[in-house]
Amino acid sequence: MLVENNVPLQPFNTFHIVAKAHALVRISSEQDLQDVLADPTLAALPKFVLGGGSNIVFTGDVKPLVLKIEIPGKRLLHENSRHFIVEAGAGENWHDFVSWTLAQGYPGLENMAMIPGTVGASPVQNVGAYGVELQDRFESLDALDLQTGQVFTLNAAQCAFGYRDSVFKHASTGAGHQAVGLKDRAVILRVRFAIPKVWKPVLGYADLEKKMLASGESNPNAQQIFDWICAIRRAKLPDPAVIGNAGSFFKNPTVSAEQCADIIARDPKVVHYLLADGSVKLAAGWLIDSCGWRGKSVGQAGVYEKQALVLVNRGTGSDGQGATGGEVMTLAKAIQTSVYERFGILLEPEPVVI
Ligand code: EPU
Repeated sequence: MLVENNVPLQPFNTFHIVAKAHALVRISSEQDLQDVLADPTLAALPKFVLGGGSNIVFTGDVKPLVLKIEIPGKRLLHENSRHFIVEAGAGENWHDFVSWTLAQGYPGLENMAMIPGTVGASPVQNVGAYGVELQDRFESLDALDLQTGQVFTLNAAQCAFGYRDSVFKHASTGAGHQAVGLKDRAVILRVRFAIPKVWKPVLGYADLEKKMLASGESNPNAQQIFDWICAIRRAKLPDPAVIGNAGSFFKNPTVSAEQCADIIARDPKVVHYLLADGSVKLAAGWLIDSCGWRGKSVGQAGVYEKQALVLVNRGTGSDGQGATGGEVMTLAKAIQTSVYERFGILLEPEPVVI
């Protein structure tokens, strides 16, 4: 096991923010983690688990020991009458995994194509896009408890999935893996997906319907949907390889029907979606956009021109250091304040800020 010191983290976060890890260990297997825990010095250090770095804002150097998860592997584990059970190592790139499932004949993840990050990070925030969330295709996962070294398995209910939320985002308050939250405590090793054998397209999202109409194809297959999703995302969302970003910076807020009626009375154009429980989800991108933020910047941190919900690093590329985490958070706070002052809604950031 190799402990690397003063490791630049810029290549390991999709915002391309400059920061260093005081110490970093690459984890390629469960054994690598056991080796870390068997080393008294390393075992005693606080730890930070890094996946694809696609949902993180670094506001300074990282003092905890960084565990960079690179566990590989993709395979069909077994199948039953209704599902293919497919397993992937936490270090696999999410989009490559989605492409692989399609190529192998296990369609069902295509609406979540091109989400940046790793398989291991996907349950943490219950990634989702265009009408499908990870929890809709999730079977179970194996994780290692950093306090005890034990490996345990969680099913969907135990992961407590919510909108961009899970047990892995909440601080630990109990003992063992019965703990209420598993933040900074569990390292996800492998994730298993239950892919229905009877494939049904998930359409219905406005952008997807538009693509379907334009193509004249009313009966698309999974590959067609995959291609449309990739095209929609390329047109709307910045490619982190070119412009640093962490996807949507805020969650879409949910309000009561009464609150929404109040907002509509003042702003009839507010983009909103009625949820099954009677509450209403508002498009945070629209709220930010209508406060005039699209295209604005603080230092080198900016609001993306084509999607106001995405904050970007305008300095990535050949021109130097780029935005700092401080600039990103100053911009985020200014956006929060103006949306709050105008609509009375406090937007909740999506990425982890450290
Ligand atoms: N809108 C504006 N101005 C903007 C941005 C959006 O008016 O600058 C309006 C659009 O016109 C649209 C509505 O807001 O009617 C919703 O926008 P969009 O379809 O782009 O989706 P979103 O709600 O902003 C969410 C997810 C995305 C996911 C898409 C598609 C969250 C926080 N974000 O975005 O996920 O790809 O839906 O399912 O739920 C991510 O989490 O990183 C992410 C990219």
